[in-house]
Amino acid sequence: MGQELRDRDYAPLRLEEIQRGLVTERLGKKIHYLPEVDSTNLYARKLAEEGALEGEVVVAESQTGGKGRLGRSWVSPPGLNLYLSVILRPKLPPLHAPQITLMSAVAMAETVQSFVSFPPEIKWPNDIMAKGEKLAGILTESSCDRDRLSYVILGIGVNVNFSRELMPESIRGIATSLMILGGKAVDRSAFVLQLIRNLERCYGELEEEGFSFLAERWAGFFRLKGKRVRVQMLEQAILGKAMGIDIDGALILEDERGFVQRIVAGEVIPMES
Ligand code: BTN
Repeated sequence: MGQELRDRDYAPLRLEEIQRGLVTERLGKKIHYLPEVDSTNLYARKLAEEGALEGEVVVAESQTGGKGRLGRSWVSPPGLNLYLSVILRPKLPPLHAPQITLMSAVAMAETVQSFVSFPPEIKWPNDIMAKGEKLAGILTESSCDRDRLSYVILGIGVNVNFSRELMPESIRGIATSLMILGGKAVDRSAFVLQLIRNLERCYGELEEEGFSFLAERWAGFFRLKGKRVRVQMLEQAILGKAMGIDIDGALILEDERGFVQRIVAGEVIPMES
């Protein structure tokens, strides 16, 4: 990360205002605010291991070792964006843990929608995209105790006020931000407040009604339905048509021979035709 990013002055998140504005029952009752951390997910995991309660939130102004999916890093300069992790203790079987990612993607997309007029898209399983560029990502990490989930760390990174000039080469051209989309800076505190509220609502819906209650909204943000995609997995790639997701959050793909495949982990790359 360049010095330019590190030394830049910025207005910190207004923690007191966020706490005052949160009328949630579970999420955000306790917020751990850190000017800098290696990774909010790592920090939250330590808290969870030490017995932190469901809904505790870790938010940082910057991360020195922000983690993305598939062993990638998450660019996390200070003061521009949002890096947060929520400790959840869902009453779900481990098999259904991916539903937490899907539920969060809905909450994220609904939050983005109330800040910019450009409609966000969900790219299975965990990317929030706009105009083909990545706006936000979700990294959920679970810990199981025998046959139940003991906790899930829900990590969310949102490019809020990232300008193209400040983006490192590695993500310029593939990443976007709310500021780029809307043409003006977005109040990060207002965004985090709305995000936590929406997460609480969607999490409650998931617990009380099941994922099928959220599935239609998820599908509304999934614009690759019926489109040709390449799904890159660890050892192989499959070409086919994206059909949607099933109740466990797996991607349903009709492969080139017309067989329906169920994919639990991988990266979807849209094809031109
Ligand atoms: C991805 O799309 O690859 C997932 C990115 C997740 C990034 C967030 S930032 C807050 C939290 N802490 C981390 O180290 N990672 C997640």
